[in-house]
Amino acid sequence: MSSTLFRTKSVEQSIRDTEEPEHGLRKALSALDLTVFGVGVIIGTGIFVLTGTVAKETAGPATALAFVVAGVVCALAALCYAEFASTVPVAGSAYTFSYASIGELPAWIIGWDLVLEFALGTAVVAVGWSGYLRSLMDNVGWHLPEALQGPDVAGGTFDILAFALILILTGILVVGMKLSARITAIVVAIKVAVVLIVIVAGSFFIKAENYKPFIPKAQEQSAGSGWDSPLVQTLFGYAPTNFGVMGIFTAASIVFFAFIGFDVVATAAEETKLPQRDMPRGILGSLIICTTLYVAVSIVVTGMQHYSELSITAPLADAFKAVDAPFFGGVISFGAAVGLTTVCMILLLGQTRVFFAMSRDGLLPTFFSKTHPKFRTPYRPTILLGVVIAVVAGFTSINELATLVNIGTLFAFVVVAIGVVVLRRTRPDLPRAFRTPWVPLVPILSVAASVWLMLNLPLETWFRFGVWMLIGVVVYFAYGRRSSRLGREQLGAEGADKA
Ligand code: ALA
Repeated sequence: MSSTLFRTKSVEQSIRDTEEPEHGLRKALSALDLTVFGVGVIIGTGIFVLTGTVAKETAGPATALAFVVAGVVCALAALCYAEFASTVPVAGSAYTFSYASIGELPAWIIGWDLVLEFALGTAVVAVGWSGYLRSLMDNVGWHLPEALQGPDVAGGTFDILAFALILILTGILVVGMKLSARITAIVVAIKVAVVLIVIVAGSFFIKAENYKPFIPKAQEQSAGSGWDSPLVQTLFGYAPTNFGVMGIFTAASIVFFAFIGFDVVATAAEETKLPQRDMPRGILGSLIICTTLYVAVSIVVTGMQHYSELSITAPLADAFKAVDAPFFGGVISFGAAVGLTTVCMILLLGQTRVFFAMSRDGLLPTFFSKTHPKFRTPYRPTILLGVVIAVVAGFTSINELATLVNIGTLFAFVVVAIGVVVLRRTRPDLPRAFRTPWVPLVPILSVAASVWLMLNLPLETWFRFGVWMLIGVVVYFAYGRRSSRLGREQLGAEGADKA
């Protein structure tokens, strides 16, 4: 039995599958498209919203250091992702990579995990977008009825804006990749321009005294149960604290959300013209750009306003209002609302592609892997998942979901780093357009860094993640293992040998 759980799909087979006409995706993306895609999904709720919460409650001006820590963790993972994505250029990201290296059960686990990451990530960003849009609408005197403002607002039940956004984006994705890439490029330009405005215009309002102290002294948390404090503090019996040096790591495990997305670039490998060359460029390029912008934004914003006074809903815009520059505040709100649209769309795209790849392999019903005869897009999982996520985004409060997204993503990083080492051993012959440097040192550091950030997430997040993964294992044994295309092919081959 263990041999079937760890059966691997050969890299050649993975690439051949994508060439079957009825399962094939159109190859239309270049390195520039991928970088735009990366920046398009990476810059979002993390920098526009979480910066304020984290600076105010967990790290103060040292939030910039938290971004550096999270950026280093992501860079290590990106070096592993880039090798995998350029070696196994088929849809499905870490899922496909794991299938080709470690085996079917780990691949299933990672695919299931990625569905969680992307689905909840989409919902989180859609609700964040809706908040910015409402704030813009308030500026011009339009107000939605409270009940339609979403569960995060007092008196709200259903977030109609987040719901509508996801349905519209689903429609765009069904119609085709190229169209959405063009829309993405325009929106990304607006978003980056707004971030640059924050950095340049904001730097004129910095007051040096706001940086004192740069790392605020550790303060004990009031909640005592340990359920919502970082696992590492519970494990080692510390009194849970905010701020201080440990606060930087707690903050890093939260602002990590701001980096999610470079891994999504890898999910578009199959739709890339020259994946061997363009994938690593797209992944590393977008990561470097975003890390630089995040550090600059957080330094500027905590310099404009004392961290204890930052807003937690629209911190970048509100910092400008606080220094009497409301015009910039309006521009930033507008850019944030526009920018979060692409983040949502790309997360949605990444998740339908993982679902598609799992279904093409027979681990989920093959009904979902037929591409549209005209648009050549995996329209069935796109529509199914789009509707489910729209409902989740409409009814769910997002704060706790964001940490769940983070733990799922970090777990995927761990599997990918291990996969790089395994694949080097099992298939040293494969052409690798990009090679992770210093293997196995970099993958080992990547695993250690990801696990460290995971340990800084609350116990309750670990528990929820465990429950989701348990459900996944049950579904695999009840469905995926039996109907796996690879399993059936291997059985067929054995039967033929015996005959
Ligand atoms: N990195 C993306 C964001 O910050 C998911 O919204």
